[in-house]
Amino acid sequence: MADRYEVSDDETEIEQRRLRLLAEARDPWTRATIDSLGTAVGWRCLEIGAGAGSISNYLGERVGPHGSVVATDIDTRFHEPPIANVTLLHHDVVRDPAPGRDFDVIHARAVLQHLPERETVLARLIEWLRPGGWLLIEETDVRAFVEQPLPEPYGTVHRLMNDPAFTPWREPNFGTRLAALLGDRGLVDIDVEGQAWAMRPGEPGGDWWFLAVQRTLPRLLAAGVIDDVAAASVRDTIADPSLVIVSPLSLAIRARRPALD
Ligand SMILES: C[S@@+](CC[C@H](N)C(=O)[O-])C[C@H]1O[C@@H](n2cnc3c(N)ncnc32)[C@H](O)[C@@H]1O
Repeated sequence: MADRYEVSDDETEIEQRRLRLLAEARDPWTRATIDSLGTAVGWRCLEIGAGAGSISNYLGERVGPHGSVVATDIDTRFHEPPIANVTLLHHDVVRDPAPGRDFDVIHARAVLQHLPERETVLARLIEWLRPGGWLLIEETDVRAFVEQPLPEPYGTVHRLMNDPAFTPWREPNFGTRLAALLGDRGLVDIDVEGQAWAMRPGEPGGDWWFLAVQRTLPRLLAAGVIDDVAAASVRDTIADPSLVIVSPLSLAIRARRPALD
């Protein structure tokens, strides 16, 4: 198994589809949250782990030609073509030098939970904000998602994929710790909003996850964790149009770096 977030060559196509589905499912809420910050013409924004790139370009449209967006990812292959005021950088948020400073808004969705160095990264992001600038982080709490009743053997695979031992670098409940961490680091105007939804096969809100399950099955087969019969049954379950499961709780945590006196 991998020891951090990575996409092997034979998983490229599935990752691209998954990122697009994630964007389709989550963008309406993310856009509304960004708008609620009062994101304004002329602002400078940083989008971390930009994935399919729809939010980088949305920020670019919001801030207009006098504003700018730096969009970063360790894998820029899946980013849609950036619009004129968006600069796409191949950049590792853990190790690489600051991609700029004094940002008005820094946004990251579903990125920090994958980074073992998430708390150090949080400190870096705060440093890159201008005084008074907004940090907007979207992360999850998967406890209800994991514990809900599910048909077997899918339920076993579902719980395994969310087991800390399966992906030890990941902290899928990081969303719930964020508000306190931001308060400890001196940020102000902290607020939290949450959302969960019904996940069904054939809908973007479900398929971003069911694709991840599909991608994981060959790894579980290779590791001898499941056999062919169980894998076939899981595939049937996650394609069954009558399946409805509760999504992870998605949390948007916002906070501001204190303004200078
Ligand atoms: C689950 S995807 C989320 C993509 C996008 N933020 C979204 O919500 O649609 C996680 C993204 O973080 C990127 N990523 C992982 N580690 C990173 C790092 N160290 N620095 C920057 N980006 C990273 C991945 O390449 C991937 O695009």
